[in-house]
Amino acid sequence: MNKKNILSLTTPSFLVDLDALENNINRYQNLADENSVELFPMLKTHKSSEITKMQIEAGAKGVLVGTLDEAEAVVKKSGVNKVMLAYPVIGDSNLDRIIALNEQCELFVAFDNEIPAMELSKKLNNTKVNYQIIINSGLNRFGVSPEEGVDLYNALKKYPNLIFKGISTHTGQVYGFSKDYIEEITQKEIDVMSMAKKLLIENDAQVEFVATGTTPTFEGAIKSDEITVSRPGNYVFFDAIQVALGAAKEEDCALTVLATVVSHPSEDLFILDCGSKCLGLDQGAHGNSLTKGFGMIKDHPELTVIGLSEEVAKVKKEGPTALKIGDKVQIIPNHSCSAANMTNYLIGHRNGTVEKIIEVDIRGNSRKISID
Ligand SMILES: Cc1ncc(COP(=O)(O)O)c(C=O)c1O
Repeated sequence: MNKKNILSLTTPSFLVDLDALENNINRYQNLADENSVELFPMLKTHKSSEITKMQIEAGAKGVLVGTLDEAEAVVKKSGVNKVMLAYPVIGDSNLDRIIALNEQCELFVAFDNEIPAMELSKKLNNTKVNYQIIINSGLNRFGVSPEEGVDLYNALKKYPNLIFKGISTHTGQVYGFSKDYIEEITQKEIDVMSMAKKLLIENDAQVEFVATGTTPTFEGAIKSDEITVSRPGNYVFFDAIQVALGAAKEEDCALTVLATVVSHPSEDLFILDCGSKCLGLDQGAHGNSLTKGFGMIKDHPELTVIGLSEEVAKVKKEGPTALKIGDKVQIIPNHSCSAANMTNYLIGHRNGTVEKIIEVDIRGNSRKISID
């Protein structure tokens, strides 16, 4: 049977270049292995049990999840047995889900204050749950300072069913700066975590892991002996933001949206049949404005996506182009994590030949609630 070429697909379609995807997974895994760091990839980028399996088969020791939906699904579908939660969880029904998950895998919940810990402890009775303390290394979102980390560790000692295992951080502020600042932010990541670990050890804590991770700081941070776990997410697909930051090259970008030119309303304007419901409106996370427009059109440096409606894109010609109505183009989204969340499946191809469908099957609302 002849396999389809991507240019014969309906548009818009979400494509994954399988060579780039495998290369990204293996490259980050090999770097982690060479530096004796355990890789716990963050799943929010792809929200796919199949890509999770690829990461585990490559050697990832566990996963980091942003939602309980992701955690429940990968434990069931991908056979993952070590799961870290990125963020604190509270509320009766969410804590019940934590307790159920804790029976199915080695779970590490995350705290940056005492209240979720107290609530979880009350529900646990004699069962024990592992936890990590989130340290703030400059993103100023979650987390406590290294000194406050010791206070929190001491405060949580009164809950004997909560077992301290380690500390974690995410220097997401890196996305708010240019590539000239990556080294400085990576050093801050290492320094803050080294200090937090030192202070905890001085207070007799057993710090079994020090976890950090963003895609741009990954390579620098894993060289430090202080970092034992890395949790990057975006590296599987990369995107236009990572290219603008110098963390990836255009050919590393695995996720694209295939679109067709459906109109050419004026000399320098083209309209494509994919809009914000495919590409997302992100221009940069945490204040970054390095990207130009709303995605990069592959092989067409003369074109800029200047605006998005929900289902269509406005593209401006900034140099001579052969583009015409009916042509298909591939757009690298600015933020692949947001774009991949807009579809139920990705179409995997090699050099343009369609090979397989990859389900995006661990998104939010993957579990229907009972209303009784
Ligand atoms: C806590 C935490 N760790 C790791 C990551 C992964 O970062 P990146 O996608 O930059 O690799 C994120 C991303 O949102 C995160 O929130």
